[in-house]
Amino acid sequence: MIKRYRYGAPVNTEAAVIQIAESKGQTVFSERECEGKTAFGYEMEKEDRVYGLGEQMRGINKRGWIYESWNTDDPILTETRVSLYTSHNFIMVIGKNRSFGAFFDCGGKVVFDVGYTDPDVLTVTARDCNLYLIEGESALEIVQEFRGLIGTSYIPPKWAFGFGQSHWGYLNEGDIRTVAENYKACDMPLDMIYLDIDYMERFQDFTVDKKAFPDLKKLAADMKKENIRLIPIIDAAVKAEKGYSVYDEGIEKGYFCKNQKGEPYIVGVWPQDSVLPDVLNPAARKWFGSQYKVLMDEGIEGFWNDMNEPGIFYGEESMAAAVKTIEALVASGRTKKDFAEVQGAVFNLPNSMLDYGAFYHEKDGKRYCHAEVHNLFGYYMTRAAAEYFEERDPDKRFLMFSRSSYIGMHRYGGIWTGDNAAWWAHLLLNLKMLPSLDMCGFLFTGADLCGFGQNTTEDLALRWLALGIFTPLMRNHYNASRPQEYYVFKNKEAFRNLLGIRYSLLPYLYSEFVKSALRGQMLFKPLAFEYPQDGRAQTVEDQLCVGESIMIAPVYEQNAKGRYVYLPEEMKLIRMRAGDRYTQEVLPQGSHYIEVALDEVIFFLRKNRVMPLARPAKNVASLDEKNLTWLKFTDRPVTYEICRDDGFVKKNLERYIERVTVNSD
Ligand code: NOJ
Repeated sequence: MIKRYRYGAPVNTEAAVIQIAESKGQTVFSERECEGKTAFGYEMEKEDRVYGLGEQMRGINKRGWIYESWNTDDPILTETRVSLYTSHNFIMVIGKNRSFGAFFDCGGKVVFDVGYTDPDVLTVTARDCNLYLIEGESALEIVQEFRGLIGTSYIPPKWAFGFGQSHWGYLNEGDIRTVAENYKACDMPLDMIYLDIDYMERFQDFTVDKKAFPDLKKLAADMKKENIRLIPIIDAAVKAEKGYSVYDEGIEKGYFCKNQKGEPYIVGVWPQDSVLPDVLNPAARKWFGSQYKVLMDEGIEGFWNDMNEPGIFYGEESMAAAVKTIEALVASGRTKKDFAEVQGAVFNLPNSMLDYGAFYHEKDGKRYCHAEVHNLFGYYMTRAAAEYFEERDPDKRFLMFSRSSYIGMHRYGGIWTGDNAAWWAHLLLNLKMLPSLDMCGFLFTGADLCGFGQNTTEDLALRWLALGIFTPLMRNHYNASRPQEYYVFKNKEAFRNLLGIRYSLLPYLYSEFVKSALRGQMLFKPLAFEYPQDGRAQTVEDQLCVGESIMIAPVYEQNAKGRYVYLPEEMKLIRMRAGDRYTQEVLPQGSHYIEVALDEVIFFLRKNRVMPLARPAKNVASLDEKNLTWLKFTDRPVTYEICRDDGFVKKNLERYIERVTVNSD
């Protein structure tokens, strides 16, 4: 049961797909006005656990920290951060006496104090929002209700479940061909190579640097012959330069965000002075989406949208303020002594509230200050592309994922979790974010494997890959000085085998993904959700159930030879060295220390469950899905629903889910 309450004059985010009449009266929260905002208070019981918030730092149980929904481009992902690239305002309290979900649907900042100020009090502070309250018996039931409210999650083409290599530093066609050749020479699978900003002509969206990439169409076609797709990046900001057709056209039509005076607002991103398309305005959104055509006409079938928090390095207002400070210092001759002031002036340039408060959007016939709708930008930029894809070919799925997002965007694309680092802590963070993202509808997600920033090591790369083979988006992307393509490491065989395991697991992972998307379920589930009666399972945060049949427990510590795993029931340990080389061992309920070598993947088959397994493949296209074997842990026949579509079809995917009866061991 879902109820909606309105506070102030909320923007229509279009996050919900079901219209719910407004309710009045008392909610589960106590409410108090505070500086024009509403503070929603809830007294938590000692045993209450709090879930949700999608892409955020810290644990699966969010209790004990403060989180802000304010889309932020800041690549230093430390534990003390309160906001990341996205805003997923769904939170769930699961308690002995009362459980409920709450979605604070609001385009501006929302603060979730989950027992940070007072360990026993949850306080959510928001302005102008629709509050959806969801009652349910269990966490899984509340999530499913909520997902029904926000609509079906995006499903990418099947090839996008293959492995992709990416690097901010592939500078030209030669670099791309080398990556493809090296993967092939090492006999390692590969389905995608990503193009970062260097493919563009001076960082101008929807252009190609002809010196570096003289014939993108041919390159894309050559790659496709090898079953490799090229996936270019698109940035939010459009270079402000006369003679650049995207800029000229957008200016002529008035499609860029404007300042108080109605002039296009200048921000600085990679191409320096730039403007932001007003993707909240349907006409501007349609126009921006149609720009993807240029690259799709070259044979491109997928994109990643970046810098769409929107991340800005400087803006008109912040720059004016910095210049004023520095000029005043220079005029007074105090520059040397006032180093801190100079530094402060420059330091405060990026992502400044001075700028976010100084430009405007048009939506539903109304003008909104950016700060009121800040968290919607990435969502609507991605929607722009997805709506164009739909128009271009309504029967085909394209790959689309974004860095910034808001609930609602999950219908249009996936997300990657931004600029992590080659830190062991970020491997664990990757695991912990997965169920929280699923709660909010973001099923097609993944982290930059090995770490995006900082130099990685072979052991971290292997351990992270052992988790990455289970994440829907599986991409190795980096910016560090030390190469980390999987073929550069010493133990090539281990990387080859682990990559191959991903493909062996694909019939299962893909089927589970599609079913979760269509049915509003979670693909990655905390043990607490699957085993609600098991006291110990309630606190396990480093193991997850993946789909209906398996549980994973990756190793995430340096030099660890294995790890403790808690089994809430008897399970079958599958230890894989390759997709066709594995052992099976039944283990009783309880805690076990399990040794896991660097070149192995372990997972656990649940009781009375089965899963299909294919032979390892070099890409999704060559996966043999006719000759599957079945991993089983059952003494009676079990029915499994497998999804066998062509990998592209968009409509009525449910038709392709076949029920297969598998006999006992
Ligand atoms: C920031 C993104 O998070 C990162 O993945 C990308 O490589 C750089 N922008 C450059 O485009």
